Amino acid sequence: MAHRHALAALAAFATAGLVLTAVPASADGGRRPAKTLGELAAAKDRYFGAATDVVGLADAEYARQLAHEFNSTTAGNELKWYATEPQQGVFDFTLGDQVVHFARKNNMVFRGHTLMWHNQLPDWLTNGAWTADQLRAILKNHITQEVRHYRGKAYSWDVVNEPFNEDGTYRDTIFYRILGPGYIADAFRWAHEADPHAKLYLNDYNVEYIGPKSDAYHALVKSLKAEGVPIHGMGFQGHLALQYGYPTTLQENLQRFADLGVDVAITELDIRMLLPATDDKLATQAKWYADVTKACLAVRRCVGITLWGHTDKYSWIPAFFPGEGAALPYDENLNPKPAYYAIRDALSQ
Ligand code: G3I
Repeated sequence: MAHRHALAALAAFATAGLVLTAVPASADGGRRPAKTLGELAAAKDRYFGAATDVVGLADAEYARQLAHEFNSTTAGNELKWYATEPQQGVFDFTLGDQVVHFARKNNMVFRGHTLMWHNQLPDWLTNGAWTADQLRAILKNHITQEVRHYRGKAYSWDVVNEPFNEDGTYRDTIFYRILGPGYIADAFRWAHEADPHAKLYLNDYNVEYIGPKSDAYHALVKSLKAEGVPIHGMGFQGHLALQYGYPTTLQENLQRFADLGVDVAITELDIRMLLPATDDKLATQAKWYADVTKACLAVRRCVGITLWGHTDKYSWIPAFFPGEGAALPYDENLNPKPAYYAIRDALSQ
C-alpha cells in the first residue's frame, strides 16, 4: 500500500548520512549508547524533528544542535504567504530556500508549512475586494508556484492550516467567506498537481483529544477521502499547556484518523507552563513529552513528531502567553532538560 512505501522512503531518507558516526558516551555514565532523537526515531521508521526560523540558523551552536539531534525540520515562518508572495504574483523563496538547504545538507526530512492560513497573510491579499473567481485564481497560483518551487524537496505540506473554530464550525476566513467550504478540496487538488509525491495535510491545534473540533476534522477527512480528494495526512499541532491537563485521548484520536486511511503526525509540539519552572513542573512536562512520543509510536501510521523549536531560547511562547514558557526540551542555554531524556527513553523502548 502507498503509505508503506512512504514510510520506507522516509526511513531511507532519514537515516541517510546518519551512519558511520562515532557513538559518544551517554550522559548517564555510558550504560547505553547516546543515540540522537533522530537516530532513535529513524530506527522506528519515523522522524523526530524541530521547526526553525532562518534567524536561528545564524546561531552556530543552535544550528549544530538542530542538525545533530533531529532528522527533520520545518520553517517556522518563512514559507507562509506573507513571506513567499509579498506582492501579488511576485514570489520570494529566499528565506525558505535557506531552511530547505539546511535540511537537505543535513539529511533532514523537510515539512512544508503552510500554504493557506488566515494569519500572516500579505496586506495586498487581505485588503483586496476579490470576487470568488479572482480569489480562486490567486489561491491556485499561490499554491502551484510554492509547491512547484519545492517539488521533490518537501516531504509533506500543511496545505490548509486551522480552518475550523473550536466548536467544529468553519472559521470565518477570507477564503471561507468568499469561496465557501469547497476551497479546501480545491487547495489539496492544486497542491497535488504541483507535486504528486508530497504528502498533503490538514493541520490544527486543540485537536489532540477527541472533541467537537477533532470530530469535525474526522468528518472532513472522511468526506474528502470519499470524494477522491488527494489528502494524505492529519497534523496535530500539539501546543499543550500543563495547566490545562494532558489530552488523554490522544492515541485513540490518532488511531481513528489513521483508520480513515491517512497518515498522522504531531506537527508543532511544545508543552508550556506557568513560570517559574520548578522541578515538579519540569518532571510533569517530561512525562507528557514521553507520553506524546509513546502515543505516536503506538499508532502505525503516525509518521513523526515535530517540536515547535527545540530550545526555550527561541520559543514563540513568552511573546504570545506572557508569564508562560519553558516549553521545549532544551533550555535557554541549549542544555537538555528532563523532557529531552524522557523523549529519548520513550523512543528507545
Ligand atoms: O519579522 C518581524 C520582525 O521584523 C519584527 O521586528 C518583529 C517584532 O515583533 O516581528 C517579526 O515578526 C514576527 C514573526 O513571528 C517572525 O518572528 C511576528 O511579530 C510574530 O507574530 C510571528 O509569530 C509567529 C506566529 O506563528 C504568528 O501567528 C511565530 O514566530 C510562529 O512560531 C507561529 O507559528 C504558529 C504556526 O505557524 C501555526 N500554529 C500555531 C503556531 C504558534 O502560533
